[in-house]
Amino acid sequence: MSFSAAANARDFETREPTSLHFRRDSNLKLYSELVDCTVREASKYSPVPNVLDLGAGDGQAALAFLRLGCTVTAVDISEHQLERLRHDCAAFAPQLAVHVCNLETDARNIPGSFDIISASSMLHHIPDYGQLIRDVIQLLKPHGQFFSFQDPLRYDSLPITDRLFSEVSYAACRIRQPDALGGIARKMRRMRGVYLADCVADNSEYHVVRNGVDAEAIRAIFESNGFLCRIVPYFSTPSDFMQPLESA
Ligand SMILES: C[S@@+](CC[C@H](N)C(=O)[O-])C[C@H]1O[C@@H](n2cnc3c(N)ncnc32)[C@H](O)[C@@H]1O
Repeated sequence: MSFSAAANARDFETREPTSLHFRRDSNLKLYSELVDCTVREASKYSPVPNVLDLGAGDGQAALAFLRLGCTVTAVDISEHQLERLRHDCAAFAPQLAVHVCNLETDARNIPGSFDIISASSMLHHIPDYGQLIRDVIQLLKPHGQFFSFQDPLRYDSLPITDRLFSEVSYAACRIRQPDALGGIARKMRRMRGVYLADCVADNSEYHVVRNGVDAEAIRAIFESNGFLCRIVPYFSTPSDFMQPLESA
């Protein structure tokens, strides 16, 4: 298993909830609208669209698809998170299949073909997310859609003001969490370009602590495979204080 897969397996054995991004009303609203739109499009071709949810975690992302009547195959490297998903999505059990899977190596072996492949807060965990996308494109039906949400945009493509705002709002939140001093020490080490193979924080949120996710490279993969691509930029921060400034 790669350093990043091992770091994710370890990290998500204890994380509860899996991720905080659905705690924000604005984020949840945008996510629900985009899911709605994706499912409406899929329904033109399949009366009951089937969804492959990559890195499904505790199932908060899957719930939006389940509530709209889709069937969902949820895959994740963490058995612990999938246990929580089974619990939180129990009302939709007949619509749900759950598999432990390391998407860095085993994505192309997932059985079936899908109307929608969803990756919520997921691609940035995978060092070679381009390869993952190329692998799962093979699992889409004709007219199938790939939907990803909540990855950080490539930092060096952002205006300096956006980068600064984002850094300050993250720091304002991080400073009140456990091991703030350790976090600062790791950040300073990484700023010198030093990443440690055995450090979970350097390898779990892999591209968050590097240069973000390259939306244009992802667009190029889809367009070269004959897909139309839409990118919807938005602002999201874990800081309660800064999020209301999102539209400023
Ligand atoms: C930030 S969470 C997102 C969970 C959920 N999709 C959501 O939006 O709330 C990322 C998830 O990706 C999973 N993950 C990370 N690396 C993985 C890998 N190599 N294979 C499968 N799942 C992975 C983690 O276990 C975790 O549940």
